Amino acid sequence: MSHLMNTYARQPVAFTHGEGAWLWDASGKRYLDALAGIAVNTLGHAHPRFTAALHTQISRLIHVSNVYQVHEQEQLADKLCALSGMDEVFLCNSGCEANEAAIKLARMYGHNKGIENPAIIVMEKAFHGRTLATLSATGNRKVQAGFEPLVKGFVRVPYDDLAAIRQVAEHNPDVVAVLVEPIQGEGGIRMLDIHYLEQLRQICDQHGWLLMLDEVQCGIGRTGKWFAFQHTGILPDVMTLAKGLGSGVPVGACLAAGKATGTFKPGNHGSTFGGNPLACTAALTTLNILDHDKLLDHATNLGNFLLNGFRERLGQVAGVTTIRGQGLMIGIELNKPCGELVQRALAQGLLINVTADNVIRLLPPLVFSQAEAQQLLDMLCPLVTGFLSQA
Ligand SMILES: Cc1ncc(COP(=O)(O)O)c(C=O)c1O
Repeated sequence: MSHLMNTYARQPVAFTHGEGAWLWDASGKRYLDALAGIAVNTLGHAHPRFTAALHTQISRLIHVSNVYQVHEQEQLADKLCALSGMDEVFLCNSGCEANEAAIKLARMYGHNKGIENPAIIVMEKAFHGRTLATLSATGNRKVQAGFEPLVKGFVRVPYDDLAAIRQVAEHNPDVVAVLVEPIQGEGGIRMLDIHYLEQLRQICDQHGWLLMLDEVQCGIGRTGKWFAFQHTGILPDVMTLAKGLGSGVPVGACLAAGKATGTFKPGNHGSTFGGNPLACTAALTTLNILDHDKLLDHATNLGNFLLNGFRERLGQVAGVTTIRGQGLMIGIELNKPCGELVQRALAQGLLINVTADNVIRLLPPLVFSQAEAQQLLDMLCPLVTGFLSQA
């Protein structure tokens, strides 16, 4: 019997090592990794320059404390702000913590404006994490059930629906912020209309609200830009990051700009591990390698190759509802639940994921090669057609 708490429905496989986009199990079987630890292993596995940088950092310093100056944090914050146009950064260890920071920041921003019960607009089918505040912000009853009472102060609207937001604006003077994923990950690779964020920016400005983007899954080059909002002309007030930022080393970040800047003062927020030298080196090295190896352009090109390939081979197949995505964040929606495809793919040596019951989710590492993308098409398309042709 396992002594681990029973929190995951795990696949029947354990990996011993990896290289690039490949993982091996103890029997020597090899698997093509089209999931990257759910958008985490940006640089794939055992990236030589990444592991060398971590070795050097580990042998020098892993952790000090945020009661001291941490130069690696300054460097990482400079780099993140230079890449994003944001002004300041709080460093933590995960996506839910980054979102907790954002939620706290929005509440404090509201209190500073004299709003006693600040509310944040959140979306249906959103996923923001599993702490009490972030599961309350999440738009999925399965994540919330059993953990009531939920944290108050969230107003839910449908995703990609500006009219719903305008309606809340008319009736709710307590709103201080909107929290939205530019592409919903767990919700099924669901995308916003290309003008949505620009119009939402205007609404937020009209009402003095913070525009807060959860880029935990879609950020760090995955969509072909450093951050998904950079496909538009806007700048958010708050952005959260984690997952791919440290290429597997836990690191999260909450960034602020404009009217959100300067909200936190010493003592308002903190984290023991947040932004330690090891985590910051992992993040800085990830960003430097993405930059140096031009992996954002690569994500765009390879994403287009994959989307075109899937559309050509699956677009007309009965039962395939939509094929959508941006860069290396791709969803194939079927007209029926398809969770069992994960195990069928695993048996053939392919790692994929199914989310929202009926959406095949692909999040390969940004070092995925053209040949590996071709292999992904060649392995996955017959699995999907075979699955759909069954009664
Ligand atoms: C958009 C988004 N936000 C937040 C989270 C939570 O991140 P973490 O599991 O690191 O707490 C996730 C995780 O899947 C996510 O996809």
